[in-house]
Amino acid sequence: MVGSETVGGKDGEKKKAGPAVSRKQKREAERSGEARIEERIAFLRREIERHNRLYYQDARPEITDAEYDALFRELEELEKRYPLFADPSSPTTRVGADSVPARRTVKHRYPLLSLDNTYSLGELREFDRRVREVVRKPVYSVEPKVDGVAVALVYNEGKLLQAATRGDGITGEDVTENVRTIRTLPRKIASRAAWVRGELHLRGEVYFSRRRFAVLVREMEERGEVPFANPRNSAAGTLKLLDSAEVARRGLEIFIHSVVGTRESHFNSLDRLEKAGFPVVPDRTLCRDFEEIEREVEERRARRRTYDFDTDGLVVKVDDPEAQRELGEKSRSPRWAIAFKYEPETAETKLLDIECQVGRTGVITPVARLEPVLLSGTTVSSASLHNEEEIRRLDIRIGDRVRVQKAGDIIPQVVGVIPAETRSESFRMPTRCPACDTKLVREEGMVKWKCPNPECVAKIRARILHFASRSAMDISGLGDKTLESLLAARLVRDPADLYSLTVEELARLPRMGEKSAANLVRSIQESRFRPLHRLIVALGIPNVGEKTARDLEETFGSLDALRNATREDLASIGDIGEIVAGSIRDFFDDPAEAEVIRRLGEAGVRAVTEKARRRSLSDGPWAGKKVVVTGVVPGMTREEAEEAVRRLGGRAQSSVSGRTDLVIFGEGAGLKLEKARKLGIETMPAEEFATMVRKSG
Ligand code: IVH
Repeated sequence: MVGSETVGGKDGEKKKAGPAVSRKQKREAERSGEARIEERIAFLRREIERHNRLYYQDARPEITDAEYDALFRELEELEKRYPLFADPSSPTTRVGADSVPARRTVKHRYPLLSLDNTYSLGELREFDRRVREVVRKPVYSVEPKVDGVAVALVYNEGKLLQAATRGDGITGEDVTENVRTIRTLPRKIASRAAWVRGELHLRGEVYFSRRRFAVLVREMEERGEVPFANPRNSAAGTLKLLDSAEVARRGLEIFIHSVVGTRESHFNSLDRLEKAGFPVVPDRTLCRDFEEIEREVEERRARRRTYDFDTDGLVVKVDDPEAQRELGEKSRSPRWAIAFKYEPETAETKLLDIECQVGRTGVITPVARLEPVLLSGTTVSSASLHNEEEIRRLDIRIGDRVRVQKAGDIIPQVVGVIPAETRSESFRMPTRCPACDTKLVREEGMVKWKCPNPECVAKIRARILHFASRSAMDISGLGDKTLESLLAARLVRDPADLYSLTVEELARLPRMGEKSAANLVRSIQESRFRPLHRLIVALGIPNVGEKTARDLEETFGSLDALRNATREDLASIGDIGEIVAGSIRDFFDDPAEAEVIRRLGEAGVRAVTEKARRRSLSDGPWAGKKVVVTGVVPGMTREEAEEAVRRLGGRAQSSVSGRTDLVIFGEGAGLKLEKARKLGIETMPAEEFATMVRKSG
C-alpha cells in the first residue's frame, strides 16, 4: 500500500454523524443477536486506525491495498446498516490517520500517466510492432525503472515552485517542502538559457539509495523499532511526513526521468538537465530495433544489482516527441512507452536456528540462520527477524522451510514460512543476555529487549567494531577475529584502549605476525586524524548517522564545541529535531561516555573538520605541493608529520618522482633522499620542518 494512488477509503468522503435511531431499530438489533455487530465494528475501527498509522506514519504497511479496502468497505457497510452504532470519530468519517491532517492538494497542469507493464519479451516485441505501425523508424530510449514514488515538479523562471505526488493522476498532494530537502535537486537552475524561462514541468521518482536505506534500517534496529519494509515504502512514508526536518535527516533522493511538453528528444532533454546539475535517471541507452532492446533487457538483468537504488525493471520510450504525439495515449497510459519488469527473485531454504545477537547499545536482535542459498547473485545464510513479534507473526520455527527475498535487494528477509511436517516448539526470546547472562530489560513502549550490562562483552565487541568500521574511523585490519583475540587477552574494553596497543602486545596474539601487528598499529594511529564527522559517527550516539554527523561538524567545528552545546543549540540546527537533540545531549552527559572521550583526546585523536582541511589545502604555505617525508622527524610519528604536511596545504606522498616538489629528510633517510637530489628536487631537513610546524601552531 504505497505511493500516492488513491486508496479506497483513505480518500473517503466525510460523512455526517448517523441519523437518529429509533428505539425500535435498537431493539431489533438486540433481538437478532447483533450485539456482536458492535464488537465487530469496534474491532474494524481499531484495525483501520492501526493500519492508517502503519501506512501514514510508520511507512510500514502490513496489509495490501485490497485488504485495507475490504476492511474499510465492511465497516462502511455495517455503519450504514446499523446506524445506531454510528460514531462521528469513526475512521470512515475522516481522511487518513488522526494525527495526519490531509495535505493541500494541487491540480496537475499535465496529468500524471502510468505505464503499461509487462513481464514478457513477447509483449515487448508486440509493443515495438504496434509502434512501427505508426512510426517508420522508431528510436527508443531504454532506462531503469526506478522503484520509488512519482512526483511532478514545476520550475518557474528557473526556481523550484512546486512538487506534488501523483495522487489520482489529476490531483496530487503538495509535498514541496519535503522535496526541497533533497540536496541534489537544484532549487534554482544556474542558467538563463531559453529552456529555463517560463514554466518547466518535470517528472521524477523520489527514492532512498540502498546505502542510505541500510543505514536507516540499522538506526531503527538500534532504537529497537521495527524497520521499514523496503526503500520504496519508506520513501513513500517519508515524503508524506509533516516534519520536514525529519525528512531532511532521512535523506531522500530523486531521479528526473521526463520533461513534459518539450520539443526536444527525450534523450537530449535529459542530457541537458543532467548538464544543468539535475540528478537524472542514469544508465540510459538508445536502441534502434527490437534485438537491441532485447539485449538491453538481458544485460540489465544483472547490472541493475550494481545500482545504488532499487529498480523493478526498465522503461522503453519512443524518443522523438513528434512520434510520441502521433502515437498518443490511452486513458491512463501512453502508447509510446512501456515498462518491462523483472520477476522478483525469492529462494527457498531451511531455517537451521534462531540466534540472538547483541548490538552495541545492547538491543537483542533475533537472526535466522539459514542453510546457504543463492539469491539475486549472492549467497544468503542469515536474515534478520527483527524482534519477538515478527517471529510470532510469521510463526517461524526451527526446521521449517522459509522463503527469502531481499528487501531493497540488500537485506535478506523471510517473507514466507512452509511449516515442517513435525514442527519444533515455538521460539521463545531468552530472558537473559546470551553473552553475559544479565537479565534482559525492555523499555516502556518498546518492542525490543536490551542487555543493561555496560560490561557485556558482546556490547563491547559490537561497539568497537562499529568504531573501527569503514564509515566510522576506518581502521583496516581490525576484523571480527582480531577483536575477539584482543578481548580475550583483555587488551581492550572500549575504543580508547585501541590507541595504546603496541606492536609487541599485538604480535603475541594468535594468528598475528609481527608485520600485521605493525600494520594494525599504523592504521589505528592513522585513524586519529580522521575528519570530525567520522569520529562523531564512530562514537555511536543513538540517532546520529552520517548525515547528522556532517551537519554537526559543519555547525560546531570541534568535538569540544559539540560537547558543550545545549539541547536548544542542537535543536536549532536545520535538520535536527528534539529527539535527536535529546539523544546527543544524553550521550555527552553520560559519565562513562565522557570518560571514553577524554581518553580518546589523551590518546591524540584529533579529528579535524573538513572545512579546516580544505582551508589548509588551499591557503597553506605549501598549497598544492607534493611532499615526501623520509627518515625520522624529531618529536613526531610518520603519521603526525604527514598530517602536519597536510595542514600546511601540502599533499603527503610516499614515493619520490619527477613530480615531487619537496622532500623532508631526517635521520635514517636513504634512497628517497638520494633520488630527490639526483632529480634536483628541493629538500628540507626534518628539524627545520619540525620548527616550522611548531610555529604554524
Ligand atoms: S516515464 C507517461 N521513466 O513508473 C509516463 N517513469 O509505473 C512516463 N518510473 O509513472 C513515465 N522510472 O512514476 C518513466 N525511467 C522512468 C521511470 C518511470 C520510474 C515510474 C513513474 C511512472 C511509473 C509507471
